[in-house]
Amino acid sequence: MDSVLELRAIRKSFAGFAALDGADFTLRRGEVHALLGENGAGKSSLMNVAAGLYAPDGGRILIGGREQRLGGPREATAQGIGMVHQHFHLVKPFTVAENILLANPRGRFSRGIETIEREIAFCTNMLGFVVDPHRRLDSLSVAEQQRVEIVKVLLGGATIIILDEPTAVLTDEEADGLLTTMRRLAAQGTAVVLVTHKLREVTRYADRVTIMRGGRHVAACDPKTMSTAQLTELTVGVALPSPVREKTARGELRLIVAGLRVEHETGRTALDGVGFQVRAGEIYGIAGVSGNGQSELVGALTGTTAVAAGDIWMSGAGHIADRPPAIRRSGGLAAIPADRYAQALAGGLSITDNYAVAGVMAGRYGPWGWLDRKAMAKAAAAAVRAFDVQGVRGLKQRAGLLSGGNAQKLVLARELAGDPVLIVAHGPSRGLDARACAAVHERLLAARARGNAVVLVSDDLDEVIGLADRIGVMSRGRIVAEFDAPADRQAIGRAMVDHG
Ligand SMILES: Nc1ncnc2c1ncn2[C@@H]1O[C@H](COP(=O)(O)OP(=O)(O)OP(=O)(O)O)[C@@H](O)[C@H]1O
Ligand SMILES: [Mg+2]
Repeated sequence: MDSVLELRAIRKSFAGFAALDGADFTLRRGEVHALLGENGAGKSSLMNVAAGLYAPDGGRILIGGREQRLGGPREATAQGIGMVHQHFHLVKPFTVAENILLANPRGRFSRGIETIEREIAFCTNMLGFVVDPHRRLDSLSVAEQQRVEIVKVLLGGATIIILDEPTAVLTDEEADGLLTTMRRLAAQGTAVVLVTHKLREVTRYADRVTIMRGGRHVAACDPKTMSTAQLTELTVGVALPSPVREKTARGELRLIVAGLRVEHETGRTALDGVGFQVRAGEIYGIAGVSGNGQSELVGALTGTTAVAAGDIWMSGAGHIADRPPAIRRSGGLAAIPADRYAQALAGGLSITDNYAVAGVMAGRYGPWGWLDRKAMAKAAAAAVRAFDVQGVRGLKQRAGLLSGGNAQKLVLARELAGDPVLIVAHGPSRGLDARACAAVHERLLAARARGNAVVLVSDDLDEVIGLADRIGVMSRGRIVAEFDAPADRQAIGRAMVDHG
């Protein structure tokens, strides 16, 4: 047998809930193997078992045909298993090179930081990425951090590479670059696991696909023999309709951004005179290759990034460019940030607290000290039902334990509650399965139909084109072109790179 990794009948429970219920998985040498399944199906849990992060309650792990007990991630690394996690394991105040050194403390890196910088350059060249080894992690976008994780695993010398939703934060082009590299590594004998929700990637790049549901294996097959409709049905259990964008009347101005400048501490200009307007009942989409100022724009709008010059005016709240986030929120701003764990959820707090916090700040549950906890729990329970947040064993459960997609649904439920003046959404369907993704799109269109103004920043061009009434293309901190719906995909794609 040429199987390099075999997981047999793996079981793993969390507080009595079986996340893995006898899951099987076989990985062969030299293949790209996709792992599909709905949010909460157990994909990350199973791969965390393979990477030595979770100790299974039952089942067997065979590496290269020999049974192994992995005492921890270091033991998995020693067996050649490297994993790029869905939620990154990087140290924020350190530079790229320092992070990579930390992960590979011994061996060939003992020669010092210059060697690592050379290795990083070599590796990113091969991947077709640009990663500056001197940048601090906290100055990088989510997509850029993702690249650092991939470089870290590759330089660690892994022969089994597990990528947990690596392309969720990449553009089509970046994703193609990464997956082409993985195919090349596979041709040289590396085994690659690709956890993804994107069927296009499965049919294009995978030699085999395993589908999971409810903590178990439901099928393994050659994706080239399946249609995407068949794969969706196996994953979700039903066929899905696509959302429709109906004609709505545009209302009054809700947001005016003019001459916006943002500068990094290093003096680099991140936003260079950005201006656009959004009306009630309108979705304004921002397209572009990630890292061109999108994160800074979202930060400037929501109040987490300092503005050097320019104006942001929001209906009902006035000029807010130098106002703190709380003032903006009480003026009717709702935010769905890209990094939901770092910016939108307090992982250590309960689901109820995470949901109700917005209402608490608005005084909806009474004054501090006299909070109506029953009403908070009731509202949270209703939201969990309405947004189909799965994996909730109780409302007191910590929000950090939700699977990636379900955590995002909780954020959406909170931010879309009420009647926001303006919704700023950054990559709102990142990491969501097909069903949840369709639900998010439906929610954003419903907000638009209700007369909310929406700024939708997304690396997923199809998402922007499908939802937005107008699209601004960002490149190097500027909006370089604007398109009205129905927009031409190719023209947008050209604008994204022409100026890049
Ligand atoms: N450390 C943990 N403690 C408690 N529950 C957990 C833990 N890790 C995962 N779970 C639960 O196990 C189930 C499976 O989660 P997992 O993260 O493996 O799903 P997934 O298939 O990766 O989903 P997604 O596509 O949303 O990333 C979920 O219901 C999740 O809430
Ligand atoms: Mg996951």
